[in-house]
Amino acid sequence: APGSPALTPPMGWNSWNSFGCGITEAQVRQAADAMVSSGMRDAGYQYVVVDDCWFDPQRDSAGNLRAHPTKFPSGMKALGDYIHARGLKFGIYQAPNEKTCAQGVGTHPGSTGSKGYEVRDAQSFASWGVDYLKYDWCSGSGTRDEQVARFTIMRDALRATGRPIVYSINSNSFHAPTGDKYDWGEVADLWRTTEDLLDIWQNGNVNSYPMGVGNVLDVTAPLAAQTGPGNWNDPDMLVVGRPGLTLTESRTHFALWALMASPLMAGNDIRTMSSDISAVLRNPRLIAVNQDRLGAGGRRVRDDGNTEVFAKALSDGSVAVGLINRGSGSATISTTAAQVGLTGGSFTLTDLWTGATSGSTGQISASVPAHGSAVFRVSGGTPAAATTSRLRGTGSGRC
Ligand code: GLA
Repeated sequence: APGSPALTPPMGWNSWNSFGCGITEAQVRQAADAMVSSGMRDAGYQYVVVDDCWFDPQRDSAGNLRAHPTKFPSGMKALGDYIHARGLKFGIYQAPNEKTCAQGVGTHPGSTGSKGYEVRDAQSFASWGVDYLKYDWCSGSGTRDEQVARFTIMRDALRATGRPIVYSINSNSFHAPTGDKYDWGEVADLWRTTEDLLDIWQNGNVNSYPMGVGNVLDVTAPLAAQTGPGNWNDPDMLVVGRPGLTLTESRTHFALWALMASPLMAGNDIRTMSSDISAVLRNPRLIAVNQDRLGAGGRRVRDDGNTEVFAKALSDGSVAVGLINRGSGSATISTTAAQVGLTGGSFTLTDLWTGATSGSTGQISASVPAHGSAVFRVSGGTPAAATTSRLRGTGSGRC
């Protein structure tokens, strides 16, 4: 949104995928500690986001939200202080309706959504040191106009606090399963494009539910043109390292989210993750692609059925290229510099998984295992002006 504090895709950790409604203050503190000890903070991850169920089922007598008395006994200000003391930022969850999602489905009691309490709640968040709000339309239907109106009320309430707070919205809980193609760029800094992503590689076709990596990819990839600094498509938290994905699938999922300029919000239990998964999340070359200041969304420039090619224009004139194998057998996947928007006869390919470099006269090709990916930064040559501006999400000039 205009004035957004999120000029590159937000990076962090969110409690929902691993802890759900059972999340406690102790677990959030441990996750913050793990962000530091794993090296994730130093790799660029910032936000520690406490999702649904952190709050007391009743507001206080003045109408203020308060922390759940037994699960978050020290209160939210103390939790924010703990997170900030580690050089991290604090995220929290609320809903623009009477109930949060968990209250709507009955897994958490009460009706403490922010509807009608937006200004009061935004002030509470600011006073607790909140840096990021996930605001989740749940428990009820509503027209598009109603959604825009209510999400805008909280946007304005957050701004009125004077504290920079990243505004992450989810309009989707009643658009399931195919997702929301609306461009929320005036309202929010990032917006969910689909229903919840589970740790599934692919479930049926694009319209199937629950959604896996391939389902969410197919909804979000065509929306690449609406990303840019302060405006991000959010294809949901990462399921990298969750039990339903193999290591190869986790790597491909991470590469795709990096190429799509998606928020990188880890959802695995980072206290206990393997060194292989930690290395995927901390890959410095893919993070640089994701965080590139141009903010272009990766485009699908080839779709040959089970094999696909994605290209993301970068601010230095190079292009990140992903060769993605969605099929169940290994495949050789090929594209060319021209197809990803570069002209000229001499290029350097940097393998973004390994860092190894090689020369190319324009051919970009790799043998890719089932559900695997090869990702390169292609530099050299000259960006082909017309094609490259098409590859850029914002269509803005070259930085
Ligand atoms: C919805 C959201 C999830 C999570 C839960 C919490 O399902 O899409 O990301 O926030 O609500 O109840």
